[in-house]
Amino acid sequence: MSITPNTLVADLGSLPPISRVATQILRLTSDPDCSVSELQRVIGSDQAIAAQILKIANSATFGMMREVRTLSQAIMTLGLNTVKSVVVASSAKDLYMRGATTPFQMAIWEHSLVSALAGRAIAKIFRFPAYDEVFLGGLMHDIGKSVIFIKYPDVYGKILKSVNDGQLDDGSQAEIDAFGFDHAMVGEALSDAWNLPRTFSQCVRWHHNPGGAEPENIVLASYVALGNLFALEVGKGIGKPQSLVTPKADALEHTGITEEALAAQREVVLDYLELDRVLITGF
Ligand SMILES: [Fe+2]
Ligand SMILES: [Fe+2]
Repeated sequence: MSITPNTLVADLGSLPPISRVATQILRLTSDPDCSVSELQRVIGSDQAIAAQILKIANSATFGMMREVRTLSQAIMTLGLNTVKSVVVASSAKDLYMRGATTPFQMAIWEHSLVSALAGRAIAKIFRFPAYDEVFLGGLMHDIGKSVIFIKYPDVYGKILKSVNDGQLDDGSQAEIDAFGFDHAMVGEALSDAWNLPRTFSQCVRWHHNPGGAEPENIVLASYVALGNLFALEVGKGIGKPQSLVTPKADALEHTGITEEALAAQREVVLDYLELDRVLITGF
């Protein structure tokens, strides 16, 4: 029987499944009307995440005079959006880091985080209102890579190495040649299997080809694609930005952003990255 993205995802063997808390948080925070009390309840059920939120709320960045002791104080101090970002990034990191943690997995995770932050910054700058969804989509966009790597460490490790060394330009094509599918397809199967919202699986599936997404998700997937490109441009990730010429043209067309306008905002995006990274890389 040939392997499909669905059978691959269904048969992850001894890998620990996604934590219930992570799924709940990913679902909850993708809803713009998510209630603070519900989020607080879910965060409170995961000691590691709750401790992280408290740590950040008490960090020097926020210059608080009094110690923040409770989760609700921490949420008020940081603001709901910051809390969501920290919590979701922490959950997503757990997903990327399942199984053995290798330099490749680390690189894929860092690339996803920078893509998410850059995508959100670009969306904010160009006034796309669903910038938090761009962040979420960006965090998850390459999750399929980590699944393929866990399942086929030798074959996929060689492909990643060739892409990393610059011997191979198109990693997705190499995946299709080796397995019959690429990481975008595996990521879609995974987020469907986890019942994550449709917007997620669409961003994941179409981040190399945003025009293929369902019409209501094309612009969202395009911003995720621009974040992905930005991450490679600043040297975060396995691959070269030149490999993304077609997705870039596709994403610019669908967002209505010109190449010049995007280039003119490069420093602003870098400033956003610097600012947001402080919050998120501490765990
Ligand atoms: Fe990708
Ligand atoms: Fe990527």
